[in-house]
Amino acid sequence: MQYALEQFAHEIRTALSATGLIDPEHIELVEPKANIPADVAVPCFRAAKANNTNPAKLATALAEAIVIAPDGLLGGVAAAGPFLNFALPPARFAALVLGDVTHLGDQYGHTTTGDRKTVIVEYSSPNVAKRMHVGHIRSTIIGQALANIMAALGYNVIADNHLGDWGKQFGTNIASIMRFGKPAGEGEAALAAIEQQYQRYNRLLRGDAGVDDNEVDEAAMDDEARRWSLLLEQGDAEARALWQWMREITLVSNQRNYDRLGVRFDTVHGESFYNDMQAAVMQAAQEQGIAIREEGGALSIKGLHDANGRELPSFLLQRSDGGTLYLTRDVATIEYRADTYHPAAVLYVVEQRQELHFRQTFATARALHVVDDDVQLVHVAFGTIFGTNGEPLSTRKGNMVYLETLLDDAEARALSVIQAKIAEGRTELGHEEAQAVARAVGIGAVVYNDLFQDPKRNITLDWEQMLAFEGNSAPYLQYTYARCCAMLRDATGRNEVGALFAHLADWDAALLGEPQSLAVLKQLARFPDTIRRAGEHAAPYVIADWLFATAREFARFYRDLPVLKAPTPELRAARLALVAATAQNLRNGLRLLGITAPERM
Ligand code: ARG
Repeated sequence: MQYALEQFAHEIRTALSATGLIDPEHIELVEPKANIPADVAVPCFRAAKANNTNPAKLATALAEAIVIAPDGLLGGVAAAGPFLNFALPPARFAALVLGDVTHLGDQYGHTTTGDRKTVIVEYSSPNVAKRMHVGHIRSTIIGQALANIMAALGYNVIADNHLGDWGKQFGTNIASIMRFGKPAGEGEAALAAIEQQYQRYNRLLRGDAGVDDNEVDEAAMDDEARRWSLLLEQGDAEARALWQWMREITLVSNQRNYDRLGVRFDTVHGESFYNDMQAAVMQAAQEQGIAIREEGGALSIKGLHDANGRELPSFLLQRSDGGTLYLTRDVATIEYRADTYHPAAVLYVVEQRQELHFRQTFATARALHVVDDDVQLVHVAFGTIFGTNGEPLSTRKGNMVYLETLLDDAEARALSVIQAKIAEGRTELGHEEAQAVARAVGIGAVVYNDLFQDPKRNITLDWEQMLAFEGNSAPYLQYTYARCCAMLRDATGRNEVGALFAHLADWDAALLGEPQSLAVLKQLARFPDTIRRAGEHAAPYVIADWLFATAREFARFYRDLPVLKAPTPELRAARLALVAATAQNLRNGLRLLGITAPERM
């Protein structure tokens, strides 16, 4: 399947090559400057140099020699200085784009770029016995969007939640439960209680001032935590049962958040799954002389270089007390994934702060050859979330934001915005619908706030901006979609829009010749390549940018050209088809980001 703009590009190349005046390798297609009335420009500098002529001369010669097929997508060609400008034929282009959108519906924009190659997208990856905090929120949202995007590109996506369910800290968790009792309740409240006990245990153990207990034997508490950690590693039944319990309530609580966000995984192994595979990694590292056994017993790696040839600070594969480490499990995970899934790439959606960890992990995996050299290992790093007033969020300061409360807050705020609109008579929504719409809008706002800019940048929780019905926000895009739906309802007399084109009268795309209509069509035609770029750069914001630009072009179309009151029934039918196509594209784009679009707002 070739989309309109791909076909256009292909025809330009073929027609230019057929002149025999230009080496196909020198044909470069660029976006013309905004004031040029063309759709693609071909700069002739390189080709002219190779032909020993000047670019303007070559452009003129090409414009004269080129043969334009009557039924193709080359609407016109003209030389302008050193450039050759190509224009699309409006009527044929409009028919082609609308045809593709109606025909493909939800699949419009999807391609087979990925060739069914497997890509593992690892995201969310929260820790057991803890609530999901801002770092995991971003990972969850960005990761799900990337998984959707890669699937739309025809990759076989494995969505993997690498749960933090192993490590020394669980010894402390168990010891604290033994000392203070097992917290009652469930969900994030139970997790919060476990966290508090854990912190209390650690404070006592460190002998921090101001604690309530003055008969503390710090050394004994330390031993106790260590003992439980060891017992857990050895499979002791009691330790195991408590660990299982903590794992279970974490999974249940997280699942609620995932359901609200529409997040889903194919596998949730967690670090514990790789526990037994660490020994082989350590042995291989030692045998191959990559790691050395220190005098104290630790196994360390020194002098390793990352993929860019930078020397890495030394690090451990095993602690001196025999305990294994996060990094060792990550190397074992790479080996397991390579053997099990034979992926072309593994994308790790993890906060920026773990950048060094991943450079060390990847370098170790490469040195040990646990994965083929052509398998891409990519850390998709993202920045921090700041609070409403731009203040950093931290557990210590007590202003940490947790996922469940963030989503609750978002829904409540969205509901009050919508209720205010109802009170002012500025929406067609009734109170019964308000709740469901508030859910879509509130959660959409949180998701979009995370995705609308480069993930490396930090984001703030600016509720004003997140929930604004104007500007680059989810509600604005959802509202544009709902406006399209309202027009389609009016036109078809139906209560639900559903399949967007189902009840429209036949249309003649040739009537969509105004610049405003063509600008919208052009945006729709760009969608497939937009998804491709988003996948290539692991950058959901490319789709957000496109959504915003599409909504803006649509606003211009809608402002300048009457749809329901179009001067003729034929014009009305054609414009309604464009409205339906826009709605389809907004819905498809939002869905890739993980945002639902209500039909009414
Ligand atoms: N559980 C870790 C944390 O919360 C994130 C895991 C990231 N993924 C990985 N393969 N190391 O910090």
